[in-house]
Amino acid sequence: MTNSTPLSDVSIALRAERERRRRVRVERLRDQTGLSLYSPHAPYPKQQQFLELDCREAFFGGAAGGGKSDCLLMCALQFVHVPAYSALILRKDTQRLRLSGGLIPRSLEWLKTHREVHWNGNDSRFTFPSGATLQFGYLDSASDKFRYGSSEFQFIGFDELTEFREDDYNFMFSRLRKTVDLDVPLRVRSASNPGNAGHVWVKSKFISEEAEKALKEGGDGVFYKDGAAFIPSKISDNPAIDEEEYRKSLSHLPPVTRERLMHGDWSIREDSLIREHYLRYYRVKGEFLELLDKDNNVFVRVDQRQCQRSSTCDPAGTSEDIAKQKKNAAHSHTVIQTWDRTPSSVGKYLALRHQWRKRVGFNDLCQGLRDTHKEFRPQRIHIENEKLGVAAVDVLRHEIPIQTIATGGKDKVSRAGPFLSKLERGEIFLPLYNNDWKPDLESEWLAWTGDKDEPADSIDAAAYEVLATESACGSWGGVLNLN
Ligand SMILES: Nc1ncnc2c1ncn2[C@@H]1O[C@H](COP(=O)(O)OP(=O)(O)OP(=O)(O)O)[C@@H](O)[C@H]1O
Ligand SMILES: [Mg+2]
Repeated sequence: MTNSTPLSDVSIALRAERERRRRVRVERLRDQTGLSLYSPHAPYPKQQQFLELDCREAFFGGAAGGGKSDCLLMCALQFVHVPAYSALILRKDTQRLRLSGGLIPRSLEWLKTHREVHWNGNDSRFTFPSGATLQFGYLDSASDKFRYGSSEFQFIGFDELTEFREDDYNFMFSRLRKTVDLDVPLRVRSASNPGNAGHVWVKSKFISEEAEKALKEGGDGVFYKDGAAFIPSKISDNPAIDEEEYRKSLSHLPPVTRERLMHGDWSIREDSLIREHYLRYYRVKGEFLELLDKDNNVFVRVDQRQCQRSSTCDPAGTSEDIAKQKKNAAHSHTVIQTWDRTPSSVGKYLALRHQWRKRVGFNDLCQGLRDTHKEFRPQRIHIENEKLGVAAVDVLRHEIPIQTIATGGKDKVSRAGPFLSKLERGEIFLPLYNNDWKPDLESEWLAWTGDKDEPADSIDAAAYEVLATESACGSWGGVLNLN
């Protein structure tokens, strides 16, 4: 007796037919007549894999410099030998398309020897001898998508997908269609680094748990989520890039941005921006400050009197805090931190000697600053140059050495960049023994993902200290008997 029934024979036959059609499609994609004619770059294996995908939706995502944008342009060119084929490549704004290295100058360079290909700069569109077109466009504000409302394309490419809104991405599928006699596949292809405003939706759309797990273990390949393909991109995939030099350039970035761009790390958003292993500790032995390495061995011993002392204040009540309170997010505290900086002869290390953290009004803020000065004698006190900081400097400038420090108009994460880098380099030290402020500070630091609704007062104050110490100079702090 056999298990086979007429029904299973039909389904086997159907499956075989589907597989035959898939192979035909892949063969056609491999043929790439337009690509071989117009691309001066031969695709490297990862790009080839992306070009051969036969699904409707696919995403090439990961490290900077992996060859993603080049590959998007190759994808768009695959069928330009077919009359009536039309392709569109989108970026959030036209400036980014036109910048040096952007996709417009890059495609002009690729096609400059092909006089038969016509470029219309007003419409940002190439027309090929077959009549096929490749157009570049932007999709910034929510209404921009309607610019494409009456068009139809068989290829739509999104470069730096995490810059786009999910709604706009989904809307463009309504522009993906063809007449029955047009023999080309319908494809939406995207490329992006992790990060940016759209990080979360892009990650949840394309990166399956299986893909994430495989990436963590150093795996590679094509991963599918709900029929959409994801190919991870790595710097090492692109032989055209001088990997070692590029890694050196990226190493100057703050840790999170660097991880995303260097390793294409999609997971880091869920984690805190501050990892436990970045933290270093000090202890006080008489007049000496002992800085401990990651195994808690003393590696610097410095007389406290040789350290420069300064304080920084992040006052609650800035416009950001008021907006937060309206949204019922965590209320802010005013934070005053006091830091010792070691002399440059031993290295530029910062030890946090004290933190004052309270919910206070303006008068108590001023009193807190006076008390800090009286107790710790910092050479300078820096306070955020928002309304309260400016008012506090007005009131206190004849009593204590206080001055404002510019926030630079940046968001918290960018502002914290130099602090995060210094922390990761192991140059920032907390007291080894618990006191009444250290546990709260550690939990705030280690829980911080950069979300604007999370408490980050003790991160802001530390970020100001790192900014201020870049230019600090002057007198010494003296001995403190605080551990
Ligand atoms: N197959 C190839 N052959 C030759 N050069 C290539 C190839 N693929 C990419 N390149 C070149 O490598 C460089 C980086 O490629 P590309 O800009 O496509 O990377 P990317 O992943 O989009 O980078 P980013 O993340 O910075 O946007 C470019 O100069 C590009 O022209
Ligand atoms: Mg790119």
